[in-house]
Amino acid sequence: MDTDLYMHSLSVANPLRESILRAAIETLQLPPGSRGLDAGCGIGLQSLLLGDAVGLTGHVTGLDVSTEFLNRGEEIVKEAGLSERISFQEGDVANIPFDNETFDWAWSSDCIGYGSWEPLPLVKELARVVKPGGIVAISGWSSENLLPGYPQLEARLRSTSGGIAPFIHGKNPKTHFLRALSWFRETGLKELDAKVFANSFHAPLSREIRNALVDLFNMRWPDVELELSSEDLSEFQRLRQPDSPDFILNLSDYYAFFTHTLFWGKIAK
Ligand SMILES: C[S@@+](CC[C@H](N)C(=O)[O-])C[C@H]1O[C@@H](n2cnc3c(N)ncnc32)[C@H](O)[C@@H]1O
Repeated sequence: MDTDLYMHSLSVANPLRESILRAAIETLQLPPGSRGLDAGCGIGLQSLLLGDAVGLTGHVTGLDVSTEFLNRGEEIVKEAGLSERISFQEGDVANIPFDNETFDWAWSSDCIGYGSWEPLPLVKELARVVKPGGIVAISGWSSENLLPGYPQLEARLRSTSGGIAPFIHGKNPKTHFLRALSWFRETGLKELDAKVFANSFHAPLSREIRNALVDLFNMRWPDVELELSSEDLSEFQRLRQPDSPDFILNLSDYYAFFTHTLFWGKIAK
C-alpha cells in the first residue's frame, strides 16, 4: 500500500482503536519509570499511550522499518511535547538493533503475526532484548461485525483473501495470530496470558467515527471484486459507499463492534 495512504489510515483509524489499545496497555501494568520497545510502531500512536503508562521517568523506543512512518512519529511526539520520553529508531523486528536485555518490556501491535513473515523468530527476537522478569506483549485485530443485518454478506467478505489477511489459505495454522500462545511457549516465556478487548459504535455516529468506519471497510475488505459474486459485490457497494441511498452508516440503528486480542508473557528470571 502507498505509504501516505497507510499513514492516513493509521490516523483515521485512531479514534476506533485508541481506547482499546489504552485498555490493553493498562492490563500489562508496565512499571512506572520503566523503559520499553514499541516494535513496528508505525507513526507512534501507541508509543504515546505506552509513554503515558510508564510516566514521566519512563522511556519508549519506537522501532519501525519505514523512515516515513518514523518521521511522522517524531512530529507527532514533538507536537505532544514528549520527545524526551519517546524516541524512534529505524530497524527490522527480525533483527532488532539493540543488545540483549536492553528493555524492561517490549510491545508490538498489529505487526508481529501480521505479515508474511514467520512469527516465531520475531517473538524470539523481541524476547532477546527484554530483561529477565520483563513483559513481552503483542496485540492485534481479532474480529469484527460491521454490517448489521447482512450476516451472509459479511461472512463471505470475511472469507475473502483480504478478510483473512494477513493469514493466507493453506498457510501453517500455527502461524495464525490467534495461535500466538504457542509462539510464546516455544520462546520460553512464562506466565502466559491472553485477553480480548472490544469496542462498539452505534448511531448517531460522530464524523470522526464515520470517516474511520468508511476507511475500515476499505482496509478490512480490499480488492474483493474478483472474489465476490456480482450480487454480493453490488450489495456491498450499495452499503459501503457514502453517496449511496443505502449507505449502512446512515441507518438510525447502526451498531458495530470489533475486537483486539492481547497476548503476553514474561521472560524467565
Ligand atoms: C499495521 S502497522 C501497525 C503500526 C502500529 N503498531 C499501530 O498499531 O498503529 C504495521 C507496522 O509494522 C511495520 N513493520 C512491518 N514490518 C516490519 C519489520 N520487519 N520491522 C519493523 N517494523 C515493521 C510497518 O512499517 C508498519 O508501521
